[in-house]
Amino acid sequence: MFKEQLDHERIPSHVAVIMDGNGRWAKKHGKPRLEGHAQGAKAARGVVETAHKLGIKYITLYAFSLENWNRPEAEVCGLMSLLTSSIAREFNDLIKNNVRLLTIGDSSFLDENVRKEIDGVVNASAKNTGLTVVIALSYGSRNEILNASKKLLKKYEEKPFDISSLSEKDFADCLYTAQIPDPELLIRTSGEYRISNFLLWQISYSELYFTDTLWPDFSEEDFCKAIYDYQQRERRFGKTSEQILAE
Ligand code: FPP
Repeated sequence: MFKEQLDHERIPSHVAVIMDGNGRWAKKHGKPRLEGHAQGAKAARGVVETAHKLGIKYITLYAFSLENWNRPEAEVCGLMSLLTSSIAREFNDLIKNNVRLLTIGDSSFLDENVRKEIDGVVNASAKNTGLTVVIALSYGSRNEILNASKKLLKKYEEKPFDISSLSEKDFADCLYTAQIPDPELLIRTSGEYRISNFLLWQISYSELYFTDTLWPDFSEEDFCKAIYDYQQRERRFGKTSEQILAE
């Protein structure tokens, strides 16, 4: 059991997850795609609980990409209503357990009622200091980076500054994730080896973990296995192994 083998001194503080494979899970079980997403929501709840128990500080879940708006209308509507209802229901409990909700993404595409419902949970949990669950909703990383550049240019228009002094931090402060540390670990399920426009800036030095497990089947043990795997790696950030060992 990987859960028992974890080093509790080296739990990552931020784990990001590309929850992929709901559609294939549904197909495999002869069920409609939305049933796959509903089972996916249950797996997400499980992972959030495990993250909370392990003392992870941030978990970012890729729930809906900007590109997902191009899916058939029935699937988009079904996913939106599943996301809204799951967040409202699950956070009833989670808020009491000191869990905070944040979202990242372009909320201008969201229906007014979806936005209101989710903002309600974000506001109600704003003072919580335990695990932060970040839902990437209507999110695209290139769009985030482009928007950050626009924000910087606008700032410059309002109050010119020395462009050559711009730092990585100045830029990162204009991303949706300004208040969130970069993930140490990125997990993608379902045997796909892609990043799919997710947190391109933020995962520069993240450890990547891929598994064939379809998202609805991703269990607490699977999550612990990913963290265990992460704990076996040496993170060098461009340095040599000897330098890291001497630190
Ligand atoms: C990818 O599977 C999954 C999504 C596009 C949606 C993710 C949503 C959930 C897991 C549901 C709820 C989540 C929360 C946070 C409450 P896919 O449809 O691309 O699968 P496929 O590649 O097998 O077709």
